Amino acid sequence: MPIRRLSVRGVRNLAPLDIHPHSRVNFIYGDNGSGKSSLLESIALLSSGKSFRSTQIKQLIHHDADRLELECELDGTTGADAQTQDLYSLRLRNGDVLFRLDGSVLTSQAQVATRLPVQVIEPNTFRLLVGSPEDRRQFLDWGVFHVEPGFIEEWRIFRKVLKQRNSVLKQKEVSWLDVWDGGFIEASEKIHQYRLAYLKVFVPQFESTLAALDAEIKVRLHYYPGWEKDSQLKDILTRQQDRDLQLGYTQSGPHRAELRIRVDKLPAADVLSRGQQKTVVAALKLTQGILYKQSCGNAPIYLVDDLASELDSRHRLALCQVLEDLKCQVFITSIEKQQLMDSWTPSEFKVFHVEHGKIEEESLP
Ligand SMILES: Nc1ncnc2c1ncn2[C@@H]1O[C@H](COP(=O)(O)OP(=O)(O)OP(=O)(O)O)[C@@H](O)[C@H]1O
Ligand SMILES: [Mg+2]
Repeated sequence: MPIRRLSVRGVRNLAPLDIHPHSRVNFIYGDNGSGKSSLLESIALLSSGKSFRSTQIKQLIHHDADRLELECELDGTTGADAQTQDLYSLRLRNGDVLFRLDGSVLTSQAQVATRLPVQVIEPNTFRLLVGSPEDRRQFLDWGVFHVEPGFIEEWRIFRKVLKQRNSVLKQKEVSWLDVWDGGFIEASEKIHQYRLAYLKVFVPQFESTLAALDAEIKVRLHYYPGWEKDSQLKDILTRQQDRDLQLGYTQSGPHRAELRIRVDKLPAADVLSRGQQKTVVAALKLTQGILYKQSCGNAPIYLVDDLASELDSRHRLALCQVLEDLKCQVFITSIEKQQLMDSWTPSEFKVFHVEHGKIEEESLP
């Protein structure tokens, strides 16, 4: 659901702002250090409680403020059922974050994430390829979580069983392992099946999205479930039991799953140029949005920070075309206004100029 009003207080260098973004395309331009990324970061923070730039969320709070406050009104469903929902977040210096929806406190991150799904494409986006398996596992699970409604509950069950099994391993209570292993295998299998079902639709869609961005890049996705593919998890647990006991944790299972991205047999990160890596990651993130839209009717909001970084004009055009086809709300930044306009001529858009932390909507001719 698009954001129809956004209010930001106490974020980095941004002056307090209230804007009414367009439900489709929002061009944001301004000089280096003006506050463009900070604006996108604010939206990402509302969506996930996390920043895509700083691991320490406190760093987002304006130096002179003791807290930051973000508020947005979301466009409800269209037609007669149109509703407005408020999503309100407040983060204090001590790191507490509080999300509210229409005045009621949201107690879980999952409740927040389903209200405001956001995908970020920014200069460090290529890290999804070069970063840890955990990053790619989380990426995969974002899609499974949003498309397969039963996944979150099974994931909670799995986490609980894994915790119990690890605690048994730490205390070296070998006789209890047999008791926990049945539940562990059952929960693992369910997670694995959810991921498989998602990937079955994800892989072909990814291939066509990547071809739309750059037909010459040939990468393949390989899913590793967290244990050797041709073995039964039960046999692996038996085989690894001594080592698991020694380590005090479970070596194999869905918590070790990975999405491997390869060019021929090599990791894509070792072969592709930086621009190609960004294109591949953009294709992954766009694919998630396309599947999300297919499953629930709305696309996520896309935050595209610094469009020009690493991408030549052909790739910028192709990326913007996929976003145009997705008909989603987009916040897209660049230093030069003309560069944005040259990459994309959407039928509906607004332009915002950011200068020294102040954001102004430009009136269009
Ligand atoms: N906690 C903070 N309090 C106040 N100012 C901050 C804080 N953190 C960062 N800044 C400043 O905020 C400014 C805006 O940074 P931001 O990254 O949003 O700019 P930008 O417009 O995206 O620039 P670029 O074009 O270089 O990417 C920077 O000058 C930065 O030094
Ligand atoms: Mg920036």
